[in-house]
Amino acid sequence: MVNLQCKYLGLDLKNPLIVGSSGLTDSVKLIRQLEENGAGAVVLKSLFEEEILLELKANMSRMTSESFLYPETVEYYEEHDTIRESTDHYLELIRQSRKAANLPVIASINCMTASQWTYFPKLIQEAGADALELNLFILPSDFKRTAAENEKLYFDIIKEIRQSIQIPIALKVSFYFSNLAAFLKKLSETGIQGLVLFNRFYNPDIDIDKLEVVSSQVMSHPADISLSLRWIAIMAGKVNCDLAATTGIHDGAAMIKQILAGAKAVEVASALYINGPEYIQNMLSELQQWMESKGYSSIDEFRGLMSQGMSQNAAAYERVQFMRYFRGFQKPNFFND
Ligand SMILES: Cc1cc2nc3c(=O)[nH]c(=O)nc-3n(C[C@H](O)[C@H](O)[C@H](O)COP(=O)(O)O)c2cc1C
Repeated sequence: MVNLQCKYLGLDLKNPLIVGSSGLTDSVKLIRQLEENGAGAVVLKSLFEEEILLELKANMSRMTSESFLYPETVEYYEEHDTIRESTDHYLELIRQSRKAANLPVIASINCMTASQWTYFPKLIQEAGADALELNLFILPSDFKRTAAENEKLYFDIIKEIRQSIQIPIALKVSFYFSNLAAFLKKLSETGIQGLVLFNRFYNPDIDIDKLEVVSSQVMSHPADISLSLRWIAIMAGKVNCDLAATTGIHDGAAMIKQILAGAKAVEVASALYINGPEYIQNMLSELQQWMESKGYSSIDEFRGLMSQGMSQNAAAYERVQFMRYFRGFQKPNFFND
């Protein structure tokens, strides 16, 4: 009999498929639906630091000059007042989903400073969240800031939040760091319980007819898995916390690859947007059938088997300009040489 149970952030999950933070997890009804279809856990849609600050702004006495809000952010929320997530509503979502569903509920905050909003995680903990995922990203596009200044912010934020809560903290990060392996390792040594590799961002594109900057593809593609797969494999066994994989996990096989690389769990969004909540069952039965075909009875038996540390071909994760693959690549027949 195959057992899909696993531990992530110290939490007991009935399987390693977590529904990633997104609009799929912004109501109790949706969370129940995800649970009924077998989700191992959910990460709630993120509350933005700006949304917490805006509530403070409404109560100016609690806000100091350290709390920075881009004027565009204030304008956006003033124009779209109904879109703004209220902090009360977010806490209620945590309370209600903990009551209505029997799976770990991980709250999520999207943040980029260690300023005034940091009182809020304590309320998240009190509302009953099982863990907190911080979606933390500072685009390194400021010519005047050094890499060290940008990176320090991550440690400042973790320090601040760790002082205020006891529930596990996971950090969802990008790959935009000058020395990625060393930086991820250093983050893992701050007392956080998990690193989620890697976040997928809103990216710009250009409409060449209208000459406008527009949003590029919001959903990921299965080929997008390769970046996080490489880095999960490289970091597995080298960090002091759990690793979860996200981006480009579109089927059971992709989930198996990430676990083989060393992930404790995977966070999935696009594949469920595209295929619906029932698709969780397909992904899990693919995992189960594969385990049966290989004779594995638990996830622990194969997790990390293909990580860089355990693999027979460790160099394959390192070489990014592999002569053998590029030179030997066959040209299609319509090129006559
Ligand atoms: C429509 C949509 C909304 C998302 N909203 C959030 C969010 O609020 N917070 C967050 O941390 N990630 C958010 N994400 C990112 C997902 O949680 C996930 O990490 C990312 O999409 C990569 O996984 P995927 O390839 O399965 O989509 C969102 C993704 C999508 C597609």
